[in-house]
Amino acid sequence: MSTRICAIPGDGIGREVVPAAIEVLKAAAPYLTVEWAEAGFETFRRTGSSLPDEALRLAESAAATLFGAVSSPLQPAPGYASTILTLRRRLDLYACVRPVRGLQPGSNVDLLIVRENTEGLYGGGEESDGERAVARRVITRAASRRIAELAFRLARQMGRRRVTIVHKATVLPKTCGLFRDSVREVAREYGEIAVDEMLVDNAALQLAAHPETFDVVVTTNLFGDILSDVAALHAGGLGLAPSANIGDRTAVFEPVHGSAPDIAGRGIANPMAAMLAGAMLLDYLGDAVAAQAVREAASATLAAGIATPDLGGTAGTREITRAVLDRLAAPARL
Ligand code: NAI
Ligand code: MG
Repeated sequence: MSTRICAIPGDGIGREVVPAAIEVLKAAAPYLTVEWAEAGFETFRRTGSSLPDEALRLAESAAATLFGAVSSPLQPAPGYASTILTLRRRLDLYACVRPVRGLQPGSNVDLLIVRENTEGLYGGGEESDGERAVARRVITRAASRRIAELAFRLARQMGRRRVTIVHKATVLPKTCGLFRDSVREVAREYGEIAVDEMLVDNAALQLAAHPETFDVVVTTNLFGDILSDVAALHAGGLGLAPSANIGDRTAVFEPVHGSAPDIAGRGIANPMAAMLAGAMLLDYLGDAVAAQAVREAASATLAAGIATPDLGGTAGTREITRAVLDRLAAPARL
């Protein structure tokens, strides 16, 4: 039986790394059928929409989507709406999930940040009269429980042992307090997984200094945004960092990086972040074996010293793709 996924390359290096990642996904999971969709800033310039109905329809009906990156307009562009923000809203992708694994040999960093992505400081609206500006921070029990459910479900699926609730309830006892208490309620249904909590400022320091002490982190929108970037320090840079936007109906997987206009079109973009996003997609589809095969082929490629210039190497996107495909095929030949 085939499983239909959607591929949205977007702009800039998205158009180089998504096709590379799809080649690897098809090799690892031959049952996938891929439907390609156009979206992003170039599409906006051509059609007046950064996410045409057709693309939304394909993403909505697919089991999962692999997304590249889109460029933001440099000047305000009337009618432009961010493709990824629209996708998150229209598909109700309420969680942003970022794994951080030290891919380099010897690293024992392996953590997962689960960030609520619909409310908090980014979802409450802002007002200003020019002298006084106010941002609202809305936290609800429903959204906090929903993100907690996902964090514990992922922890269980992945055999993880501990979830750390990150908050600042000392200063924000109502909003952060509600978040913390809601997560703790859900935690009771997952007796085998330990729970602890940490204030966000300390969590930033600990994530920077001792990332190997974390397992799963669950937190609110703004805190999660910042902590994800702190944790990314340990993952070997933007060229290696994948992420996922997860909802109850479908999910969109993407590299953390943007469209990189400074290197687009030169064939030197690192496709590994997109491939590792593809591995997350396979995990999401329930194919842990193929997902692990992709991750191992990527690690083996790095271990062989084959890397793009962002990691100090000289290989291009094609060479990396070839090297990963070769290593993916190898175990099957034994
Ligand atoms: P960026 O991530 O595109 O690039 C930052 C730096 O990292 C650049 O020097 C770039 O060459 C390098 N880089 C990024 N990914 C790489 C890869 N796979 N291989 C090798 N080098 C890589 O961030 P920047 O420059 O801030 O944004 C460029 C455009 O991308 C903007 O229009 C921005 O709005 C958009 N963007 C889109 C995102 C998305 O679609 N989710 C996320 C971040 C930025
Ligand atoms: Mg960010």
